Amino acid sequence: MHPAKARPPHSKENRVVLRYFHKENSHTLKVYEAEGGYSQLKRLLVTEKETWTPDAIINEVKASGLRGRGGAGFPTGMKWSFVPKDSPEPKYIVCNADESEPGTFKDRFMIEEIPHSVIEGMVIAALALNSEQGYIYVRGEFYKGWQRLDAAIEEAYRAGFLGDNILGTGRKFHLATYRGAGAYICGEETALLESLEGKRGHPRLKPPFPAFKGLYASPTVVNNVETFATVPSIFEMGAEKYTTLSKGNEKSRGTKVFSISGQVKNPGIYELPLGLPLMEVIEIAGGLRPGHTLKAVIPGGSSTPILTPEEAEKAVLDYEGIAALGSMLGSGGLMILDDTTDLVELTLRVAHFYGHESCGQCTPCREGTRWMSDVMHRVTAKRANAEDLETVLSFTKNMVNGTTICPFSDAAVMAVTPIIKKFRHEFDAYLQPK
Ligand SMILES: Cc1cc2nc3c(=O)[nH]c(=O)nc-3n(C[C@H](O)[C@H](O)[C@H](O)COP(=O)(O)O)c2cc1C
Repeated sequence: MHPAKARPPHSKENRVVLRYFHKENSHTLKVYEAEGGYSQLKRLLVTEKETWTPDAIINEVKASGLRGRGGAGFPTGMKWSFVPKDSPEPKYIVCNADESEPGTFKDRFMIEEIPHSVIEGMVIAALALNSEQGYIYVRGEFYKGWQRLDAAIEEAYRAGFLGDNILGTGRKFHLATYRGAGAYICGEETALLESLEGKRGHPRLKPPFPAFKGLYASPTVVNNVETFATVPSIFEMGAEKYTTLSKGNEKSRGTKVFSISGQVKNPGIYELPLGLPLMEVIEIAGGLRPGHTLKAVIPGGSSTPILTPEEAEKAVLDYEGIAALGSMLGSGGLMILDDTTDLVELTLRVAHFYGHESCGQCTPCREGTRWMSDVMHRVTAKRANAEDLETVLSFTKNMVNGTTICPFSDAAVMAVTPIIKKFRHEFDAYLQPK
């Protein structure tokens, strides 16, 4: 059994979405139903049908304060409310299970272990948006997760939670998986939609946003795996209760699943109330190894600016708390780095990743990410001088703030330049005199 599943919940965790994650056969319909699974769908579609109009469902999601868990933190209820429900075009519900951000590994475990929560969340979204077709876009490498999703979809069809006549009500919603080919850019929602249409995964210019013109130019909602998996719990406990689960800022409600990696004793995924101090979260993950000190923290996946130990001391883990330090909560991929980490090597890895994954559509991104990677190769090989690093800091200014179609380029710059600026002394040891 994978350690992320075998580990019992930590006493400071509040497992709402992951409440049955650690149970044997959690991926099966039998276990999900024993945990109350699909009872919210039954309530919304059958027993309390009159109450739960599409607007009422959307208002409940809005009231919960749920923000998208895929990285940008956009309010979910608001996103759903943008979709023109009465337009004659078909509406699509798309789940983003492409998770490729280095340091983030929560979605892969959720599709493997709690696929029915994701499915129920998607069917509830379909009721809200009057949609009859959904897709789950799965990263190509997630073979087990894809198999588990397909098996769960099959079970849900057989039990009448999907199909032409859901729970005998005449309501229709079909769901299918689609496997990507392992390109990070296909996690960007419009590249994902292109790929889902069978085309090359190139991001589209926005506007129009997917809510108006998404899949096959029809209104589409794209949400992250964790976002959909959270929806049934919100209806189960009620939006108001959900808002009280978090500890801090009123704009960051509920719990969040964090992927915690790096030099902590117990790396893994943890569902925690939003708003805990970062240092407390490091302790929850077992703390640093004895005799070592904290060097840095990457708070939300590789594209979020790195924090120094002084910043980490002040950091509160919610959307506003991390933004106040000039970084982002992102997808909640916390990388804890101790004094044995070579940040120059880390920067090379990160720069190489973005250079490799750029889709090549926009010149600043295609050329800039490659240059960052080339310079970092020369730095680590001790063939670069101080001027080379200054050049990186200079040309990256032309890679951000709307110079490209999508924010991949901004993400690459946020991943690399804060390390150079905040930990310059580490680079100096590698630089050669001019
Ligand atoms: C380069 C790039 C990669 C992304 N990768 C993912 C991803 O793997 N999974 C994900 O849910 N969102 C990813 N996103 C964010 C999506 O574009 C989109 O905002 C998200 O799927 C919306 O879901 P949410 O509102 O539930 O967070 C990525 C964005 C960018 C710019």
